[in-house]
Amino acid sequence: MAFKTLEDIDFAGRTALVRVDINVPMADGRVTDATRIERILPTIRHITQAGGKAVLLAHFDRPKGQRVPEMSLSLVRPALEAALGKPVAFAEDCIGIPAKKAVAAMEPGDVLLLENTRFHAGEEKNDKMLAAGMAALGDVFVNDAFSAAHRAHASTAGVAELMLNCAGRLMEAELTALEKALDKPERPVAAVVGGAKVSTKLDLLSNLIRRVDHLIIGGGMANTFLVAQDVEIGKSLAERDMTDTARDILDRATAQGCTIHLPCDIVVAREFAAGAASETVPVNECPADAMILDAGPDTVAAITKLLGDCRTLVWNGPLGAFEIAPFDMATNAAARAAAELTAAGHLVSVAGGGDTVAALNKAGVADRFSYVSTAGGAFLEWLEGKTLPGVAALED
Ligand code: 3PG
Ligand code: MG
Repeated sequence: MAFKTLEDIDFAGRTALVRVDINVPMADGRVTDATRIERILPTIRHITQAGGKAVLLAHFDRPKGQRVPEMSLSLVRPALEAALGKPVAFAEDCIGIPAKKAVAAMEPGDVLLLENTRFHAGEEKNDKMLAAGMAALGDVFVNDAFSAAHRAHASTAGVAELMLNCAGRLMEAELTALEKALDKPERPVAAVVGGAKVSTKLDLLSNLIRRVDHLIIGGGMANTFLVAQDVEIGKSLAERDMTDTARDILDRATAQGCTIHLPCDIVVAREFAAGAASETVPVNECPADAMILDAGPDTVAAITKLLGDCRTLVWNGPLGAFEIAPFDMATNAAARAAAELTAAGHLVSVAGGGDTVAALNKAGVADRFSYVSTAGGAFLEWLEGKTLPGVAALED
């Protein structure tokens, strides 16, 4: 990769401005999933143990240029201190006098958290003045926020252009895993793509059919592909205006040597509710008054067999309505199969984006995948084959 990493920088006596993504879920004032916080610790510890000062730059939620008290990063600070095992100082602004004073008060080895970058309207506009205000605070910029790298913001792209910069450990790990999965994979490569809509994943599907050998489509978007093949789907959700697009994707996949796999059996129900009466039928026998809520056991068996023949797997999105049992069966079973093949050394499995991490956590397999990305939108844009501005800004 064409950028510097932590090893290339001497942090002793220097102030590192570290872009992190601690945009963590919270409920009742508490962080409910600290994964993103835990994943940035190696970078912070590397800098502080080398005798550097770590000044953390981050956004939190979407305050849209306003000071919104509920979106203050001071709310995340206790969880950060707990994870790090030491105090973290806080500055009320990410630029200007409050930030400068807080940096001036630091000793080598200290950690300082700056207030939400998105309290400034210039952040999302990648404003040069704002980026310069950030750059003035340190000697080197470390970007450890892969999951925010799809944003061309002042704190991701802008500031990197103004300073000596490098990638942090997490950024490096994410990019290495993604490269292994799609850029230089061991073949055959399979991708699982689930979720509700074809329309939100068009670019992603178009890119994947060029890159993978097998594309397994599940979730609501599989219904649209079934309609495109004139399969009756009863009352199932589908984007009927997208059937031409779906047909086009099927044709292009064939032309590009990618096999698309749709469910061969389905779990249907008359209502979408926990424990609703359901039945499993062949894919072309969906009752007119029922809806498809999951893939069936024959589909899972076919996926399991297919994954057994593959060496690399990229996973994004659930195969069914996984939030509600029993419609989580296919997602759980296929994820377990992938985890077992990974644990046995047969498969490199990389997952990420949106609901994916929640689905894999629910299936209890996230720790047995080769890599689970902390990124939502950035993972999807990477699957679309897009250049991520935050990564591009680091290139030497
Ligand atoms: C995320 O949570 O996906 C990242 O922190 C980016 O947040 P955003 O979607 O609000 O830009
Ligand atoms: Mg997002």
